[in-house]
Amino acid sequence: MKNIVVLVSGGGTNLQALIDAEKAGNIKNGKITCVISSKEGAYALERAEQNGIKGIVIPRKAYPDIASYTRAVTDALLAEKADLVVYAGFMTILDEQVTKAFPYKMMNVHPALIPSFCGKGFYGLHVHEAALAAGVKLSGATVHFVTEVCDGGPIIIQKAVPVENGDTPETLQKRIMEQAEWKILPEAVSLFCEERIEIRDGKAYVL
Ligand code: GAR
Repeated sequence: MKNIVVLVSGGGTNLQALIDAEKAGNIKNGKITCVISSKEGAYALERAEQNGIKGIVIPRKAYPDIASYTRAVTDALLAEKADLVVYAGFMTILDEQVTKAFPYKMMNVHPALIPSFCGKGFYGLHVHEAALAAGVKLSGATVHFVTEVCDGGPIIIQKAVPVENGDTPETLQKRIMEQAEWKILPEAVSLFCEERIEIRDGKAYVL
């Protein structure tokens, strides 16, 4: 059974999707053992508590720079014996200390079809604002491995979602969460725990 540690910063609806999937028996060979939040008071922590999952706060603002913050998070992940680390709405870009400690053992859900609308500055509603500004007719979500390149690691699963006339960043975000993120994140986590994802030539393949 693999230990899954989930990193969060906010509301935690993706964490909830993982908790629900685990309860429904849809995370094969994996268990959420800990939730780490970069923000005190994040609602995601309450979701963890309600479900008997250990919650830890490592506040970003308590550290002077990203190197010392990454060290603290990496140490916590090692102490928790994480087999898989899931970024579920985690809004801090950690440096290579963590990717070296957990190579191809960390995944992130991003609310767009990478390589569109991704990289530094593209997070949360900003992603959907950019998609609407570009006038794309399809957006969606991507689950990918975390490497030292922001949003640049091997893509595991993507799902497209239509953009509709009159969409606002909020309505598009909601549709992408409901139709894509909350489905493909638990799916990718289960595939990882079942050891059904292979990396070849820097790309991920589902077996
Ligand atoms: C989600 O849409 C997630 O994809 C996005 O933030 C939201 C968090 O919601 N993540 C990023 O933009 C990371 N680049 P949640 O806290 O309810 O899961």
